[in-house]
This record gives sequence, C-alpha cells and structure tokens, in this order.
Amino acid sequence: MKKILVTGGLGFIGSHTVVELQNKGFEVVIIDDLSNSKIDVLEKITEITGIKPLFHKIDLRVKADVTSFFDTNKIDGVIHFAAFKAVGESIQKPLAYYENNIGSLVYLLQEMKNRSIDHFIFSSSCTIYGQADALPINENAPIKKAESTYGNTKQIGEEIIAESCKAYNMNAIALRYFNPIGAHESIKIGELPIGVPQNLIPFITQTAAGLRKELSVFGADYDTSDGTAVRDYIHVVDLAKAHIAALERLINKKNKANFEFFNVGTGIGSSVLEVITAFEKAAGKPLNYKIVDRREGDITAAYADTTTANKELNWKTEKSLDEALAAAWKWQQQQ
Ligand code: WQD
Repeated sequence: MKKILVTGGLGFIGSHTVVELQNKGFEVVIIDDLSNSKIDVLEKITEITGIKPLFHKIDLRVKADVTSFFDTNKIDGVIHFAAFKAVGESIQKPLAYYENNIGSLVYLLQEMKNRSIDHFIFSSSCTIYGQADALPINENAPIKKAESTYGNTKQIGEEIIAESCKAYNMNAIALRYFNPIGAHESIKIGELPIGVPQNLIPFITQTAAGLRKELSVFGADYDTSDGTAVRDYIHVVDLAKAHIAALERLINKKNKANFEFFNVGTGIGSSVLEVITAFEKAAGKPLNYKIVDRREGDITAAYADTTTANKELNWKTEKSLDEALAAAWKWQQQQ
C-alpha cells in the first residue's frame, strides 16, 4: 500500500482529497499546522472513511522538522496543499507569503530529492493566467504577471518545481484549479473560512444563514452577459478526484514529461448573478444582495478548457453547480 503525504490535509481541498485517497486504498499521512484549519476535521474524515489518517502538526517553514518527519516516515508520494491563500492578505503581507508558500515548498522538494521520492502533486491556480486573452483557457495560455503576491507564489512555485524536476529527474504535476466550491455529500467536511469570507460561495451561504447582512456583488459593469464577473466553479469532490488521477498518472509512469500541468475546472463559466439565482433555487429562499463597485484585482472572466485534463488524466467533472451549491448550503446549516 503506497503511503502518501498530504500537506494541508485538514484544509478544504486537502481533507476532501484525503477521503478520496483512502477510498482508493492509499495510506495517508497528513501534515498540517492548523493555522487555517481545525483538528476535528481529522475525526470527520475518519467518520467518512472508517480509516483514521496519520497526523503530524508540523510547520513546514521549520526545515529541521521537515527533515525529521521524512527521517521517520517512508513516503511514496506527496500532494502539497499547505500554503497561505488569501489574495488580498497576500498583498499586505508579502514576506509571510513568500516564507510560507515558497520556503516550505523548497524544504519539501529538498527532502524528496534526497530520498528519491518521485511523485509530487502541486496545488496551483488559474490565477496565474490573469485575465486570459482567449476563453476557455487552455494550458498554452500565456502566464501573465501576477496581480497578487499569492498568485506570484503559485507562478514561482511552478517554476521551482519545473527546474527541480529537470535538474534532479523528479516527476511532478501541477493542477491549476479554477474555483473550488461545495462540500462532501456526508456534510461532515466542507469549507471553513476564518473571519469574513473572501470567496463568493461562503459569503453567500453565511448571508443566507443570517450571519451576514447582505452579499455585495463586486461590480455589474463587466463585459459579460449580465455585467457581473464570470468564473468556473468546480465541486471540491471532483477537484479532489483530479488529484488521485494525477497521482496515479505518475505512479503508472504515464506522464509525458518530468513536469506537467493541467487546468482543472468544469469548462462552464457562471456569472455572479447566475450563481445567486442558482443558489436561491437550491436553498429555496431569496438572497439579500446589492451591487457595489468592482473589487481591486478581479478579472472579468475565467473558465477552463478541460480537453487536456479530461484526456491526459482520464478525469472529468461529474457534479453540477446546483449540486455544489446545495451541498454548500447544507454544510452551512450544520455550522
Ligand atoms: C469569485 C467572484 C468576485 C466575493 C480567488 C483566487 C483563487 C482562489 C479562489 C485560492 C468574483 C465575486 C466574491 C463577494 C463578489 N483562491 N465576489 N462578492 O477571486 O475568482 O478567486 O479565490 O485558491 O486563486 O484568485 O474567487 O470567490 O473571491 O470571487 O461579488 O463577496 O465572486 O468579484 O467575480 P476568485 P472569489
């Protein structure tokens, strides 16, 4: 049984990926520093799968702790989620973002190189495309200068991985996520934003639950069908399964290059107003919202060309926006 390290494994996407890894028979060990997650997620994963993942509370910025983890754990592959990910915050705290997102990546890769651990899956983001010139966005779209430190850490991260794969003959896949949303069907795990949610769906569900007065729609003057910005909202379970597909591609040596990257989305663009309408239908209640000015740094539209991921990963999304919104609402009602 292959033993897979999942860093950030108690987080939103990480926890859903741990569940899918266990469902596929992998042994999972989680590293998480609990800076943006809760320890009770470990119990919830165990309730879902009946298997308690191994867990180590480690700060990946501490090189000595990363080394001692690998000294005492024989790992076959790594899925690396652990990172700071708030776009706005990253602009106020660039050094914290570079230290964590880049520093921990370098320490992980050094350990993998020294121990010939050969399978690495990296959590990347469609943010690196900025506002793409053409839609849907395929993997040949040019990488644009990042508009946030967060986006820059993903661009630099991919470059570090690509150069390391070449120099040390390692194998890695970066998954460039679009917008992950929803919750596991058990409603035992889901998105746990700390403080005021930055992302659209948690803000919507908290507004519907009466925790927020109303949703502010950031701009209705974009060049889109209804003036509001368009994104590709992918169910977090579909996204989790893409990580298993990528890992198996490396294990089965199906990869065509040392470093590969894939756009992981549904291929469907939805505007903010379309999401609101779909949510109102899913929740069976109207949502309080108002239109305000655009948010600094937002792009008009992004949705994935999923051709390459579908073909090379033999993976495609199975869940709809409606299903994801219904699960997000059920999850919110549990909180
Ligand atoms: C979606 C749409 C907003 C909140 C970011 C990161 C990306 C990933 C996901 C980490 C936009 C609008 C939002 C609100 C709104 N992060 N919106 N009112 O900005 O597409 O992507 O989060 O992995 O890397 O870039 O996601 O959910 O913040 O916004 O109108 O209160 O909803 O303007 O059009 P985004 P988002």
